[in-house]
Amino acid sequence: MKNCLICNSDVKTFIDLGQQPIANGFLLEPQFKNEYFFKMEVGFCPKCKMVQLLEQPDREQMFHENYAFFSSTSNYMKEHFKNFASSIIDLQSLNKSSFVVEIGCNDGIMIQNFKEKNIGHLGVEPSRNVAEVAKSKGINVTSEFFDSKLAENAVSKYGKADAIISANVMCHIPYMHSIFDGIEKLLKDDGVFVFEDPYAGDIVQKASFDQVYDEHTFLFSVLSVSHLAQMHNLEVINAQPQITHGGSMRYTIAHKGKKEISKNVAKQIEIEKNLGLDSIAAYQEFTNKVLVVKNDLIALLEKLKYEGKKVVAYGATSKSTTVTNFFGITPEHVSFIYDTTPTKHNKFSPGAHIPVLPYEEFRKSNPDYVLLFAWNHAKEIMEKEIEYMKDNGIKWIIYVPDVRVVDV
Ligand code: SAH
Ligand code: TMP
Ligand code: ZN
Repeated sequence: MKNCLICNSDVKTFIDLGQQPIANGFLLEPQFKNEYFFKMEVGFCPKCKMVQLLEQPDREQMFHENYAFFSSTSNYMKEHFKNFASSIIDLQSLNKSSFVVEIGCNDGIMIQNFKEKNIGHLGVEPSRNVAEVAKSKGINVTSEFFDSKLAENAVSKYGKADAIISANVMCHIPYMHSIFDGIEKLLKDDGVFVFEDPYAGDIVQKASFDQVYDEHTFLFSVLSVSHLAQMHNLEVINAQPQITHGGSMRYTIAHKGKKEISKNVAKQIEIEKNLGLDSIAAYQEFTNKVLVVKNDLIALLEKLKYEGKKVVAYGATSKSTTVTNFFGITPEHVSFIYDTTPTKHNKFSPGAHIPVLPYEEFRKSNPDYVLLFAWNHAKEIMEKEIEYMKDNGIKWIIYVPDVRVVDV
C-alpha cells in the first residue's frame, strides 16, 4: 500500500509493468551487469484522482550531464513550441520589461522564442548537457532543479514572473507540493502558469501505456490538476487539448480569484467524468486493453521471426523502454532501433539491449517491417519515409491504440 504523493490517501494499483530500467539509460555492453531496475506499478488515488507511479528512481539517476533526450530532434515540436510561446506573449501582453520562467527548458526549444524577442527570461534545466545547448543559443539558463527554494531565489534575483511555462516536465516531478509552492511565490498577482503534459484521457482511450516510464511520475487530468492547484491557493482557468505526444493537455493556472475561468474547464471535467476518470474502473479497463495489445504484438513478432522476416524499429524513445521490457521484446524480434539522437548511437536500449544505430543507416537496412516506437511523431515520420517504404515494399507495425500492419 502506498500513500498518494498529492493528498496522502491510499493509492490503488491498476497495472504492474514489471521490472523496468531507466528509460533513457542507453548503455554499453560492459554496463549490462550493473544495470538498475525498479518495479514499475501505476496506481490511482480515489480521493484526488491523481494517477501516479508507486515507486521511482532518484531524480539524479534520470536527469544529469548525460541526459539522452534533446527536444529539438523534432521539427514539428519546434513549430509547436513557437506557437505555444506566441500564445503566452499574446495572453500576457509580454514585452521587453516582462519576465518569463521556463521549467525544464532542455535545449531551449521553447524559451528561445522569448529570447529572440528580447523578453526577460530564465530557463531552469538541471540536465547540464542539454542546458549547455540552450546557453550556447544565448539563453539565460540555470542548471538546477526547480523547487520552492529555487523559486524564492529567483524572486530575489529577478522579481516575480508574468508567466511560468513548462512542457513535458511537471509530470516528471514527484515533489509536486514544492513545485506548486514555488509557483505560488514566483508568480505575479496577475501572472499565469501554463504547462502541458501527456493527458490521462488520451492514454486511457488509446491504451498508450508506454507513456508510463520512470520519468513520468504522474498522468494528469483536469480533475487531478484542479485538486492540486486548489491545495496551493491557485486554480485552473483554462484546459486546452493538444495533439502532441499522442494527446496532451495544456493547463493554465492563476492565483485564485484573479482571472476569469474559461468554460473549457467545466467542459473538460465533464468529458473526464464521462470517460470515468474519477474512478478506478476506467483504469482497470485500460489494463485489459493493454494486455490484449501485449498478446497481439508478441504473437505478430513471433510469427515474423518464424517466417524469417527482418523487423527493425524506428525511434529509440523513452516509451519504447516500457514496451520492450513489459512485452519481452528482444533483439531476436527487432534487430536494430534507428534514431537521430547522437548520444544514443552505438549503444544498447535499456533492459532489452537492442542495438541503436544512427538514422542514416535506416535507409540501408532493408527490413520487411518497421516497428514504429516513435508513434507520437507518426505524421512527421510517415511523411518523411513514404517513398523509401513504398519503393521497397516495407510495412509499418503500429501498436497504439491496437496492433496493426500498415501498408504504405
Ligand atoms: N520541455 C522540453 C523537455 C522535456 S524533457 C520538451 O517538452 O521537449 C524533461 C526535462 O525536464 C528534462 O530536460 C529534465 O532535465 C527536466 N527536469 C526534470 N526535473 C526538473 C525540475 N525539477 N526542474 C526543472 N527541470 C526539470
Ligand atoms: P520522444 O518520443 O520522447 O519525443 O522521443 C523521440 C525519439 O525519436 C528521439 O530519440 C528522436 C527520435 N526521432 C527520430 O529518430 N526520427 C524522427 O523523425 C523523430 C521525430 C524522432
Ligand atoms: Zn490523492
